[in-house]
Amino acid sequence: MTIAITGASGALGRASADFVLQTVDPREVVLTTRRPEALADLAARGAQVRRADFTDPGTLATAFEGVDRLLLISTDAVGARLDQQRAAISAAADAGVRHIVYTSVPEPVPANPALVVADHAGTEQALRDSEVAWTVLRNNLYAHMQVPTIGQAVASGRLVTSGGAGATAYVTREDCAAAAAAILTRGGHEGRAYDITGPEALSAADLAALAREIGGRDVELVEVDDAAFGTGLRAAGLPDHIAEVVASFGAATRGGFLAQVSSAVADLTGRKPTALADVVRAALQP
Ligand SMILES: NC(=O)c1ccc[n+]([C@@H]2O[C@H](COP(=O)([O-])OP(=O)(O)OC[C@H]3O[C@@H](n4cnc5c(N)ncnc54)[C@H](OP(=O)(O)O)[C@@H]3O)[C@@H](O)[C@H]2O)c1
Repeated sequence: MTIAITGASGALGRASADFVLQTVDPREVVLTTRRPEALADLAARGAQVRRADFTDPGTLATAFEGVDRLLLISTDAVGARLDQQRAAISAAADAGVRHIVYTSVPEPVPANPALVVADHAGTEQALRDSEVAWTVLRNNLYAHMQVPTIGQAVASGRLVTSGGAGATAYVTREDCAAAAAAILTRGGHEGRAYDITGPEALSAADLAALAREIGGRDVELVEVDDAAFGTGLRAAGLPDHIAEVVASFGAATRGGFLAQVSSAVADLTGRKPTALADVVRAALQP
């Protein structure tokens, strides 16, 4: 049984590889990446490190050779990645991969205004259309991304949001990796889509309350519209296209598309998911 992980030099890829390598012989683990040199340490442990770039389909046949189960990590090229990911699915099918696990987004439906949805929905469809068995892991927003937001709220006394009263079931990247590794190493779950979430859904008001507790000071909740939120992100230095993607999650939050809490992390891994408050306290409290 050979297990492969694409994008293995990315943060989720590396975390997933670490979990898989806890229980699987490294010689049966294939790690694909655009930058094999970044995985020299895992190659030294015996893992097979291979070059794969979804924008260069010629790299994919060799990369997926002999692989049984594949974790296909969505790339960061939002808006341009659908064709890349379709190419990866097609190459995996041609190489004889039997099961693909894909990292998606909660509620990838047309009504969901998050700008990442179209690529994920298209990739999920490509999986359903393929001959290969699949599992979809719809990862909620990473909990650690709220650390700077709350840190800034503690420093400034203001927490700015465009999410209204909507809530988000933040999950840690480690829990996403552990869930993926559980399926890769144990198999099963074909034809299933799971919401990968933290233990609870939190609103911006909840985040402000956490900032008050951590900072020991008043923190005002400042509600703005999507345009103003995007302007703030650009003023903070985010490039236009990234600011636009990030700001679109405000509308998704208000629409309730990120609020679903599931038991999938505990069901798949056997341990409870980490709470956002624990991540933030560990990062910000001395
Ligand atoms: N749930 C969330 O809050 C959240 C937040 C941000 C992103 N995401 C999504 O989740 C994915 C994994 O998150 P992360 O934290 O690991 O992000 P990351 O560290 O930024 O990793 C980006 C990933 O994209 C891969 N990639 C980029 N271009 C590629 C290409 N042409 N061919 C193959 N792979 C390519 C990279 O692989 P190599 O560099 O190894 O080739 C790497 O695995 C992201 O790529 C994104 O789709 C989710």
